[in-house]
Amino acid sequence: MTALTLSTSSATTLRADAVVVGVAKGAKGPVVAPGAEAIDKAFDGKLAAVLETLGASGAEGEATKLPSTSGIKAPVVLAVGLGDAPKGDEGFDAEVLRRAAGTAARALTGVKKGAFALPLADLESAAAVAEGALLGAYAFTSYRGGKGKGKNEAAGAPLAEVALLGGKPRDKAYKAAIERAEALAAEVNRARDLINIPSNDLTPKLFAEQAQAAAKEFGLKVEVLDEKALTKGGYGGLIGVGKGSENPPRLVKLAYQHPKASKTLALVGKGITYDSGGISLKPAGHNETMKCDMSGAAAVFAAVVAAAKLGLKVNVTGWLALAENMPSGSATRPGDVLRMYSGKTVEVLNTDAEGRLVLADALTRASEEKPDAIVDVATLTGAMILALGNRTFGIMANDDAFRTSLHEIATEVGEQSWPMPMPRELRKGMDSPIADIANMGERAGGGLVAGLFLEEFVGEGITWAHLDIAGPAFHESAPYGYTHKGGTGSSVRTLVRLAERTAAGDLG
Ligand code: BES
Ligand code: MN
Ligand code: ZN
Repeated sequence: MTALTLSTSSATTLRADAVVVGVAKGAKGPVVAPGAEAIDKAFDGKLAAVLETLGASGAEGEATKLPSTSGIKAPVVLAVGLGDAPKGDEGFDAEVLRRAAGTAARALTGVKKGAFALPLADLESAAAVAEGALLGAYAFTSYRGGKGKGKNEAAGAPLAEVALLGGKPRDKAYKAAIERAEALAAEVNRARDLINIPSNDLTPKLFAEQAQAAAKEFGLKVEVLDEKALTKGGYGGLIGVGKGSENPPRLVKLAYQHPKASKTLALVGKGITYDSGGISLKPAGHNETMKCDMSGAAAVFAAVVAAAKLGLKVNVTGWLALAENMPSGSATRPGDVLRMYSGKTVEVLNTDAEGRLVLADALTRASEEKPDAIVDVATLTGAMILALGNRTFGIMANDDAFRTSLHEIATEVGEQSWPMPMPRELRKGMDSPIADIANMGERAGGGLVAGLFLEEFVGEGITWAHLDIAGPAFHESAPYGYTHKGGTGSSVRTLVRLAERTAAGDLG
């Protein structure tokens, strides 16, 4: 990963390939943001005017490169937009800084060292810039290069070194914040990598092996149930979904434990390594990105490792419900009835509503250990994308206060989310003439119907929330901020902050 250091050097004297400065929107054109005073001085105080000449306005997302002037060691100055200049002594919003740093890091792809002279008013802004830079300096290159390797790789290589100027390298709190940012970004990038790996190279078995390797590396407990154990254990949901595939399902338990923890958080992730829809096959145009259907499991995996790296005083147990949803002669048919791990029976009306089936088994299993709370994460429904768009995940819960907390936590870490209801009247749409419940209900409110289905498999009295990340998990349009095309690592930061809050005893 990109190396990050806090530096006390001046932006003008630090040896780097480019120096990054902030530019905000002022009342009369762009204004240079705090942190870049020395750079502006080298431009005789005319940096804002030069930037304006080049077309910069200070709008968010803007990146303007210009050659340095004498008195600046770095040959290139990169100005990134920060939007409206904050009023009074208010600092810049953390997410604005995170995105600006990400934009800068992306603009410096192929470059070796960047010096970031952005406005670091406090610890929070330093952490945000660090996170943004490390998340922006990401590239998924494993499948690039072929024979001409070397060259291609160097051109697409992420920014290798980031020096943050304006922080306090000798201050313990700053050091800790930077270490946290590094752990967090590494784990978000772990989730992104897993999501980006094509389904032919990330089967349930291979995914489980990655969890086992990480368990070894970070001292986590790991248990893997293979198809034999799942059959024996009565995991009808996981078996039913995985039945059509040559690559059989797995249920992975990955547990981080702190000796002094008083709370246990269970995280459950949907891990469909490929979702073809099964016999209810998805039409062309709807299956090209379905390698991303394990994004929930990737986020859970990453969050457990992050909790371990940070040594949080809380137990965090991850459950990865892994299966490949394929059509074949052995696949579950629409109309089949599955007997789930909970004992409930489910009539499978649509084999493309498979996520709720694997999650149901994992939720029941997770509930057996009586955690203080369960959060599941899943690319569950197209309906949630229709409702909230491509950047916002929906939050459902059996506890209003917990749903509100998750929404606040997500906002705090810079992830867009929205609380969604679970209208009871939608339950009857899932009534089945022959089984306890059907895996599909009314089309209207499809994301909420899925939430109601899941709720039935959560143990009595356990606080539970469901994050439907179908929209933000996989980014298909132009990159922005620290968000690249492909897997985003959506919800990892929210889950980690939830674990931190739980460790601190902030939640119930
Ligand atoms: N994995 C999909 C949901 C999805 C769609 C995620 C697009 C990301 C992007 C899920 O398994 C699915 O197919 N859901 C169906 C449910 C329906 C059949 C009740 C859907 O949303 O159409
Ligand atoms: Mn599906
Ligand atoms: Zn799916």
